[in-house]
Amino acid sequence: MFKDQIEKYVSKFSNEIGIDLGTANTLVYVRGKGIVVNEPSVVAVNQKTGQVVAVGKAAKEMLGRTPTHITAIRPLVDGVISDFEVTEEMLAYFIRRAGEFMPKKFLGPKVVVGVPSGVTNVEVRAVRDATKNAGAREVYIVEQPMAGAIGIRLPVHEPVGSMIIDIGGGTTDIAVISLGGIVRSKNLKIAGDKLNNDIISYIRNEFKILIGETTAEQVKLAVGAVVQGDPLETTIRGRDLITGLPREVIITDSDIREAMSASIDILIEATKEVLETTPPEILADVMRRGIHLVGGGALIKGLDTLLIEHIKIPVTIAEDPLTAIARGAGIILEDVERYKSVLIESEDDLPSSK
Ligand SMILES: Nc1ncnc2c1ncn2[C@@H]1O[C@H](COP(=O)(O)OP(=O)(O)OP(=O)(O)O)[C@@H](O)[C@H]1O
Ligand SMILES: [Mg+2]
Repeated sequence: MFKDQIEKYVSKFSNEIGIDLGTANTLVYVRGKGIVVNEPSVVAVNQKTGQVVAVGKAAKEMLGRTPTHITAIRPLVDGVISDFEVTEEMLAYFIRRAGEFMPKKFLGPKVVVGVPSGVTNVEVRAVRDATKNAGAREVYIVEQPMAGAIGIRLPVHEPVGSMIIDIGGGTTDIAVISLGGIVRSKNLKIAGDKLNNDIISYIRNEFKILIGETTAEQVKLAVGAVVQGDPLETTIRGRDLITGLPREVIITDSDIREAMSASIDILIEATKEVLETTPPEILADVMRRGIHLVGGGALIKGLDTLLIEHIKIPVTIAEDPLTAIARGAGIILEDVERYKSVLIESEDDLPSSK
């Protein structure tokens, strides 16, 4: 009780923000303002001085294009922190950037941050520590598929099953939710980045041309479609592996479909597996209410159609799927009491590392 009153008082001087710390993109939501930062999770570091040269969009433009002493780093891989210090610097930068939208300057913000479902305690702690070191006063952790479900206003608290698939850059979370909890879930390391790598391998094997990650992603966005539709094509430039010289080729939607097919199959199989283990009553709800797609991968052309074909359940692409998790974090912030059950609250819930 007393603690609650102190908290109420303290919160007068502290901002509340939600962060979707993603492998591909980081978004910051400020309570009362909405999403104020939406940038790629990339940091460029000068190796000679150890200084950060650029963060976000500016750093992403440097990926694969840096001189030898500068490296553009993606500090998260497969949904989890792979470079702790750089993640911390990136978060601090984004929180500072959000600062101009934060009216209360006296204390560090209270932060709700998402993690992929099924991550280990060590990984959760890494996210919590990085967020604290980046200036947060208090950190609450939420599983990303839960935040996504809240973000698209699924009735997570009700005794009714909802299913959400979050296809990001590093991970795909497939989750069934009911009564404020995740009933079944599966986390795959197959998402946007894997599809980009599939495209790089395919073009290397079929066309003997080497392309970079950025080009692969552009090709995916331009002509990637997992079911056949109107023919699409694009020209790419890369290095001929035999002559070593630059060469251009035309790539079609059917090339990319083939390149991505093995990964897409795994995604469909994993969805089936989650459904197979879902309790019957909840399964009936899902069959009636459909599956909701969020994350950038929700925009893969034809994915909804392909899923419907294979699993015979309606599939809906959420509106503005790339911001769903951040919006959910925002909704949680507006009413932390109501969403307490979905949060992994600070140190108490985890064995301490200290
Ligand atoms: N129109 C599109 N078609 C296909 N893929 C897309 C499209 N738009 C974005 N993507 C992909 O979505 C991915 C980024 O999605 P998102 O921002 O949801 O990931 P993230 O949250 O940063 O990653 P994660 O949740 O795995 O940590 C990228 O791999 C990008 O290529
Ligand atoms: Mg994500």
